[in-house]
Amino acid sequence: MGVTDKRCVLTYIPFNRPVKVGKEFQYIQQAIDTMHISGDGSYTKKCHTLLEEALGVPKVLLTTSCTHALEMAALLLNIQSGDEVIVPSFTFVSTVNAFVLFGARPIFIDIRPDTLNLDEAQLERLITPKTKVIVPVHYAGVGCEMDTILDIARQHTIAVIEDNAHGLFGKYKGKYLGTFGCLATQSFHETKNFMCGEGGALLINDPEYIERAEVIREKGTNRSRFFRGEIDKYTWVDLGSSYLPSDILAAFLYAQLEAREQIQTKRRQIWEYYYAHLQGWAQDHGVRLPIVPSHCDQPYHIFYILMPSLEQRQALIAHLKAQGILSVFHYMPLHLSEMGQRFGGRQGDCPVTEDVSDRLLRMPFYNDLTEAEQASVVAAIREFDGNPC
Ligand SMILES: Cc1ncc(COP(=O)(O)O)c(C=O)c1O
Repeated sequence: MGVTDKRCVLTYIPFNRPVKVGKEFQYIQQAIDTMHISGDGSYTKKCHTLLEEALGVPKVLLTTSCTHALEMAALLLNIQSGDEVIVPSFTFVSTVNAFVLFGARPIFIDIRPDTLNLDEAQLERLITPKTKVIVPVHYAGVGCEMDTILDIARQHTIAVIEDNAHGLFGKYKGKYLGTFGCLATQSFHETKNFMCGEGGALLINDPEYIERAEVIREKGTNRSRFFRGEIDKYTWVDLGSSYLPSDILAAFLYAQLEAREQIQTKRRQIWEYYYAHLQGWAQDHGVRLPIVPSHCDQPYHIFYILMPSLEQRQALIAHLKAQGILSVFHYMPLHLSEMGQRFGGRQGDCPVTEDVSDRLLRMPFYNDLTEAEQASVVAAIREFDGNPC
């Protein structure tokens, strides 16, 4: 991206880029050599075992996306017409669409102004006899207030499904995110800390769901049991779809998961650099940096800032773009989307979401972002005078 304005530097820093850690192609080659590149080959199994052991989860199943893992969760809970699902309005569309697909009505809950996670203090007033599920989303991998959420869910016999798309290896009070709900979902989309292009996982914490989850993931058949030699033929036994990824993707992902310490160390450095170098500027300009409660260990997935206004946020995005630096906003309030309004969503229903959505800006963040690139981003921000470059 060439820019000639004298205040602007010649540079290009994307918001995200997929980064290899080293063994991806070697593992893909091995997967091909074994002549098993459809689902549930050796690398899929390696990923399952690695995640089960690392997180202490009874069963992990790789899926084609976090979206599909959420759909599997909806099927496992027999979501049907009339059921209500409490979801934050400040999330990706899949968190809610997965349940609406099976007839559920979304009940949008606002977020806390500090962590931007669902505001657990508002749960009780949204629960009705039709409430079937609460879906906490650990925004930026910072844990929701799981003690309170689980207490309330238990009192009302409501399931909790964690959308942990951002939060693999993050912790709440020392326990891994994704291990609190009966089910949890992960994303391995190329924007995530660990990725394979498109991919996801269903974490099954309640073993009661394991057998049916395998069936749902294998087109409604008991093929997984057949492959394990437990039955002599397989057949259609339940609803399902094709939710298992090719072993080529699993091979790519395994290389990334194996390098998790290296990846997380680097991401921590990136996050801490932004925090340290923007702290003073943020204080002087009425900008808010991320808040991570001391009982949460974050996985350094996102670095965002909250600008004083929508106009300032847009001007900063334009200013950075003119200098070849891509920064982006994040979720638009779902209750105000076309679909959200069909479910009765109105302006003012979730005021914190509406406000944060206007003001939030995410910084470039990927696994090989260099300190020099970060210094350019910080310098460009410091030059910002309220007008686009
Ligand atoms: C909170 C959340 N849930 C679900 C998803 C969907 O993930 P995937 O692209 O793996 O389906 C995303 C996507 O980024 C997300 O941010």
